[in-house]
Amino acid sequence: MKYERVIELAKRRGFLWPSFEIYGATAGFWDFGPLGAILKRRVENLWRELYVIREGFFEIESPTIGVEDMFAASGHIDNFVDLVVDCKKCGEMFRADHLAQDVGKESTRDGVAKLIKAHNIRCPECGGELGEVRTFNLMFRTTIGPSSERVGYLRPETAQGMFVDFPRLLRFYRDKLPFGTVQIGKAYRNEISPRQGVIRLREFTLAEAEIFVDPRDKSHPRFDEVSDTVLRLYPEKEQLRGKDEIEISVKDAVKKGIILNQFMGYHLALVHLFLTGVGIKPENLRFRQHKKEEMAHYAADCWDAETLLDLGWVELVGIADRTDYDLKSHAKKSGVDMGVFVRYGKPKVVERLRIKPKMDVLGPKFKDGAAKVADALMGLRPERLDELGKESIEVDGKTMRIDPSWVECERVSEEVHGEKVAPHVIEPSYGIDRIVYALLEHSLAEEAVEGEKRLVLRLPPRVAPIQVAVLPLLTKGNLVEVAKEVALVLRENATLVEYDDSGTIGRRYRRHDEIGTPFAITIDHQTLEDNTVTIRERDSMKQIRVGIDGISDTIRGLLDGKIQFERVGTLV
Ligand code: ATP
Ligand code: GLY
Repeated sequence: MKYERVIELAKRRGFLWPSFEIYGATAGFWDFGPLGAILKRRVENLWRELYVIREGFFEIESPTIGVEDMFAASGHIDNFVDLVVDCKKCGEMFRADHLAQDVGKESTRDGVAKLIKAHNIRCPECGGELGEVRTFNLMFRTTIGPSSERVGYLRPETAQGMFVDFPRLLRFYRDKLPFGTVQIGKAYRNEISPRQGVIRLREFTLAEAEIFVDPRDKSHPRFDEVSDTVLRLYPEKEQLRGKDEIEISVKDAVKKGIILNQFMGYHLALVHLFLTGVGIKPENLRFRQHKKEEMAHYAADCWDAETLLDLGWVELVGIADRTDYDLKSHAKKSGVDMGVFVRYGKPKVVERLRIKPKMDVLGPKFKDGAAKVADALMGLRPERLDELGKESIEVDGKTMRIDPSWVECERVSEEVHGEKVAPHVIEPSYGIDRIVYALLEHSLAEEAVEGEKRLVLRLPPRVAPIQVAVLPLLTKGNLVEVAKEVALVLRENATLVEYDDSGTIGRRYRRHDEIGTPFAITIDHQTLEDNTVTIRERDSMKQIRVGIDGISDTIRGLLDGKIQFERVGTLV
């Protein structure tokens, strides 16, 4: 299995380590070692370049613990659950829907329970009898403060922290739609028996953008910039009919209604741009639409960017149209207005009824409460008289049906300058850890070189942890001094250098091949004669000789892909 080979290299070279290893590792937790942490940070920073700089979505940072009210409103307390079943004999817990998936497509608790019973499905570990199917909430629960009465949860997504800040964000963005905000941070899900190694973690990093849009107009102002991007789509229809993916431009997919709107199309294209930019090959990438029954509780449309790994197609990014689900839920629960007043280009004139409460009727009927009833009546905006009798008002938490005899009405025309809308949310949600793993797996190559096995991590230079190795050929003479000087000059230019003088030059090249260092500079005897060094390219293993002067710019240009390797110097 390639997975095992990747993990072997990742552990040995300091990319990924099982967490708490000395106490016996716990499934679902992995450390990023020194090289893994840099690789991950590079991926995150490229993400920031795209979303923060190109799109102008500012990053915020909210707590990783959330209060109970927030997750009650978001639906996570009720809906962020998996169906599970325990083995009565060995006690192991399983995803009930996974156990039943080969014998039928059921997603409800009763449906799955029936399938398990009808097909006499037993414990996959010990063959024991299975118990009742029940729901299990994937959020880690905790308490806030010393009294243990205030319940909190570790966030399962960063999104909610942005939704609850919506009123402040709206003001920050000067009350205009559309706008976006992003967050990169840890998320926690108490996954049931995570068996897919680093693919299914219990603590992982999400990079999410929440883009708030006017629900009446989901056209994207910059759609033309991406509309020719060709995506490999796997729409619901093709999945249900057992057909293959289709290749289609974003423009055509939106035109044909395969992708719901331009905003979704734009963001699918951006995900494609990002993933291929960090090094996921387009041929290993597809966008699979969620089928109705697998859609999250908040989503109206959802596509997963999936990549082909040894384990099969694995989701890296989910792109959802969350509609107004979250903002409306938070508005309802918190009582805080989450609407946006959208101004019309020019005012509209509308006819409506103006309501005048009859105090001589309300006074005797409601006594001290009459003023409040009158206020509530004036807040009504009926367009026709006959609608009035169907309306109710709320006074002091009580709902009451209106009696038309309480009011007088007069028809007026008035200018309306805009209307209140409930923004919709488009959300790309990236799993950074999976992207990092996918890069490792896709980059790892094994080849025979002069009868020997060479392991090489062909990471794109923009994400490679060590950008350049500086290697004195020998540790004798002045070579070390010059090599250290070269390393210093590169570091001053913000290049991550590893100075390495241990072992034979062949061994040092091999090590840097394995950790994906794209270029190695070697300082040799000729350096002392003519002030030149060699640069070795990891992938081709070719070497060129270049002058030491300007070495920093040469390396920068090579890393950025702005200059071509064989053009900078003479091949040796
Ligand atoms: P899956 O179907 O694999 O459980 P999901 O549909 O629950 O994933 P989302 O809720 O859409 O995933 O989360 C957004 C992104 O977060 C995913 O695309 C994935 O990259 C990442 N992600 C989700 N769960 C995990 C996990 N347990 N470990 C690592 N990354 C995860
Ligand atoms: N925020 C999207 C998700 O967690 O699924």
